[in-house]
This record gives sequence, C-alpha cells and structure tokens, in this order.
Amino acid sequence: MSGMSRRSFLKLGACAAGGVCAGEALSEAAASREAPDRPTITTVLPYPRLKLANSAQLKAGVEIRLTYPDNDSPISLLKLGKKAINGIGPDSDIVAYSRLCSHMGGALDFRPDTGAFHCPLHYARFDAAKGGLTVIGQATDNLPQIRLEVDGTGDIYAVGIMGLVYGRRANILG
Ligand code: FES
Repeated sequence: MSGMSRRSFLKLGACAAGGVCAGEALSEAAASREAPDRPTITTVLPYPRLKLANSAQLKAGVEIRLTYPDNDSPISLLKLGKKAINGIGPDSDIVAYSRLCSHMGGALDFRPDTGAFHCPLHYARFDAAKGGLTVIGQATDNLPQIRLEVDGTGDIYAVGIMGLVYGRRANILG
C-alpha cells in the first residue's frame, strides 16, 4: 500500500461506502504522502559585499546602472535628494533597487519627475523613497531593495537584498 497507511486506507474506504467523508481521513492520507526528510528550498549562501560607487559620483535624480548580486541581476543606484526609507548617506537619500519589475520582469527606468521606477511593459510604478512601494499597476509585490552601507570615505557597498528578485527562487544562485 504505497505511501498510505492501512488506517488511512480503511478510513477512506469507509467514507466512500458510507457516503460521509471525514476530512481527518483525507488529511491523514495527504500527510502520508509527504516525505518528512525532503529538503526545503532555502538560500543559505551569504550575499557578497560589493562596492558600487563612491557617494561623490552620485548626482540627485540620476541613476547609475549596475548589477548585484551577480551579472544577471540589474540594479539602479541613485541619490534621490530627499530622505528615503532605508536610505543611506548624510541625507539618508541614497538607495538602490532591482531593475526587474516584480510583475513580469520588465526593465525599469527611474524618472526623477515622479521619483519612481516605471515599467514599460504594463506601466507599474514603484516609489523609490518608500522602499519600492508599488503605487500603480499590476505588480502585487514591491520592488526588491538593495541593502546598502557606506564607509567613512563615502564608498557605497551592496550587502544584501530585501525581497526576491523577479524570476528567482533565491537571490543567490548556488
Ligand atoms: S512587467 Fe512590469 S508591470 Fe508588467
């Protein structure tokens, strides 16, 4: 009796014969098919600490396009000119985000006039000052934000990502 206990099998048989079905029997049958030692898919690999730029290179409203945590993951680093959620630097206005739209992976463009990333595919917008909040469009997830650190010389480092980059099961591919 592969994958199902004799007890669950008998309970299901009783359900069928009696015309009354017990949820308990069904859940036991489903549980019997689960392999308790099956590994789960989780990322345990550490994020790289990658220098992105020096803060002296940044101009308000102008994005610098880079990649992080690998070459297949485009990001934008920018100085907003106003305080931002998770912003770094003396004005807490330096942020970075994935450039892949959380809806279907469209390549985003930052527009200083709206302070948002715009998707050319289905027109979603993500607020760069509010942690990548989806403000309009079909995207249901916010834009993944890059964790940043700055040192005493103004060098800016990417050290992690908040949220899952579009199309990935884990941000760090093993
Ligand atoms: S891919 Fe960006 S809104 Fe659909």
